[in-house]
Order: sequence, then C-alpha cells, then structure tokens
Amino acid sequence: MTERDVYLDFAATSWPKPTPVLTAIQAWYQDVGVSASRGDSMRSQEVAAGVQDTRRRLARMCAMPPHRIAFTSGATDALNLALRGLLRPGDRVVTTATEHSSVVRPLTELRDPLGLDVRIIPCDASGSLDPADFERALAERPTRLVALSHASNVTGAVQDAAEIGRLARNHGALLLLDASQTAGARPIAVGADLVVASAHKALLGPPGLGFLAAAMDVDPAPTRFGGTGSSTALDRHPRDWPTAFEAGTPNTPAILGLGAALAWSESGEREALDETAARVVRELRGALEQLGSVRVVACPAGSPLPIVSFTHDALDAAEVGVLLDEAGIICRTGFHCAPWIHDAIGTASGGTVRLSAGPWVAEDAPQRVVEALAP
Ligand SMILES: Cc1ncc(COP(=O)(O)O)c(C=O)c1O
Repeated sequence: MTERDVYLDFAATSWPKPTPVLTAIQAWYQDVGVSASRGDSMRSQEVAAGVQDTRRRLARMCAMPPHRIAFTSGATDALNLALRGLLRPGDRVVTTATEHSSVVRPLTELRDPLGLDVRIIPCDASGSLDPADFERALAERPTRLVALSHASNVTGAVQDAAEIGRLARNHGALLLLDASQTAGARPIAVGADLVVASAHKALLGPPGLGFLAAAMDVDPAPTRFGGTGSSTALDRHPRDWPTAFEAGTPNTPAILGLGAALAWSESGEREALDETAARVVRELRGALEQLGSVRVVACPAGSPLPIVSFTHDALDAAEVGVLLDEAGIICRTGFHCAPWIHDAIGTASGGTVRLSAGPWVAEDAPQRVVEALAP
C-alpha cells in the first residue's frame, strides 16, 4: 500500500486497524510472551485477565455468559465446530442461498455421511431473505438447525435474524448465526442459540482468531481434543465451557489485540467513521450507476452494510480488478466464497467486483474508481 492506494476490501478483512490493536499485539510480543492458563506466573495471570476481558466484551455483544464464548482460529473454525458438534444422522438443516463457503462446505462434507436433509432458502436479486420462506420450510418437517449468515458478504444485505430466530424457536430448531460480516457493524444479540464471527472484519481485530458463542442450554459435542493447560494429568479433554472448545495453545496476542479493538470501538470514536464509510459507499454506488458500462447489483432495502458489487459490460470481474489494481484501488473480484448467491443476483457467469469500506476509507474513493473505469 502507498499513501495514494485506496483500500476497498474491508468485507474480506478490515484495514487499517485502530492503533491500540497494534500496541496491544506488539506489547505482547515485546514484553509478555506467555499464554493465559499456561503456568502460574504473575505474568500468565495478567494475560489471563486480558483474555477474560476480551471474552467479557464479546459476551456483552452476543448477550451470552462470558464462559460460553470459546476462542477459535476464525469463523470457519467456529462454524465447523458448531456444525460437526451439533448435527446427527438424519437431521434436517435449513440454510440459505447467501451462505459463505464456511457453511456450504462443512455442510456438503457432512451431508452424505450423516444423511442430512439440507433445505436451501432462496434469496432475491439483492441477496435479501424473506422470513416467510423460513416459516414454510420449517413447517415442512422437524428441523434441527437453521444456519444463517446475518449479512451477505456479496451484496451487504442484512437479514432479519431476530424474526428468523423466533420462527426457528417456534418450530423447535436452533439458530446458528454467522455474524462474520455484522459483528462490530450491527447489533448481533438477536436471540440466536449460537453465534460465530471472525475477529478480523468489522470487529477490527487481527486475523487468525474468531469465536463460537452458545446459549446455556446448547451444547455441541467437542470435536477437537488436546492440551488445555488445565487438568493436565487427565487423559480426557475437559467438557466444561470454554475449555471444551479451546484445545491447544491459544492465539494470545490476537485475543489481546481483539480486546483492544473492542475497547476502542466502545469508546465512541467509531460512530462517525462508520457513517463516513456508509456515505462513501452510497456515493460509490451512485457514481457507478452513472457509468453506462457497469451494472450495479441491486441494493437491499433497509440498512445494508457498506458493500457494493457490480459487473462490467465489456470486461470480466478479474479484468476490472486488474484495472482497479493498476489505479491503486484494492478490491475483491469473483464469487467471494459465496457459491450459491450468484444465480439469484444474476452474476453466475463470473461473479462480481466487490467494493467495501470501513473506518478510515479514503473519501475520494468514488472519484478514483470512476476515473479508473472511465473509457
Ligand atoms: C459471511 C462470512 N462467513 C464466514 C467467513 C469466514 O471467515 P474466516 O475466513 O475469517 O474464518 C467470512 C469471511 O470472508 C464471511 O464473510
């Protein structure tokens, strides 16, 4: 990146990070070096307090007890833990056309061995889902789990997760909410039974970290076993939360960095920056719509995330990506690890060019994109 580069790939991973995140990570590498719950040193106990602080902040965000937050290596890891830990032979799963590969692929792996009945709810041309479709699907036959992406990473459509959760509960199904795109950007305490997210998107933390949160009465079977730093004389992995899901040495610097990101986000500095990002993407959308050569994917109703996807009449998405890259604009092209959504939004032939913004986005991004695409 140079000073003149424009970063518009926030939906893949947020950048830049708030300064306190860098400070916390560097301080761990430089001055600390130990993990929580590994050894009894004062230093280890101080780290444990920092890790617990991050857990508490995430718990508040999810409206779950702190000990029901397990750190994972990312949303993908957490989704695998939830799906593998919950689903049993013959279960029915209701999921959606908007899902990320981190739901699609574990479900595909589990479908045949477990004989799962997977029902996929379609979305409209903006990637929005209609709760009435869930009501119909749930009424068809008993369902174990609804796996729902809170927001589409392709179109920015934010789904009515509270209503879908209510319908799931009425039909005796659990709601697994993939809040990877919304955690940090929208309220995620919407009554889901399980919530997962990555640290490195709108939570503004580092990559290589995520979490699995589960309500008190929801207990996936652990599927990874190993050292936990506790009960070390026992052969059997402890079954208490969160240890049951935290096998192996944790990513302590990332957890402390995420804690710093959450503290910074709660400090009030963030709101105006998020509003700027939303305005920049609205302007980008408007500017793209003025260009004769591109088709902008429909904007979902309500309050979408700051994401705009488009296709070009003469160039494929990858070629547009090269043009933008040459102009110093960092974006993402293709199917965005969301294989099922593209039929509905009319982009099955090559995917989209996705521009997504977050705090500190360059305010001249719309002009820069238009200049790069102008014939
Ligand atoms: C909606 C959604 N779910 C899950 C993931 C997976 O996140 P990670 O790769 O950090 O595990 C992503 C990341 O792109 C995403 O956008």
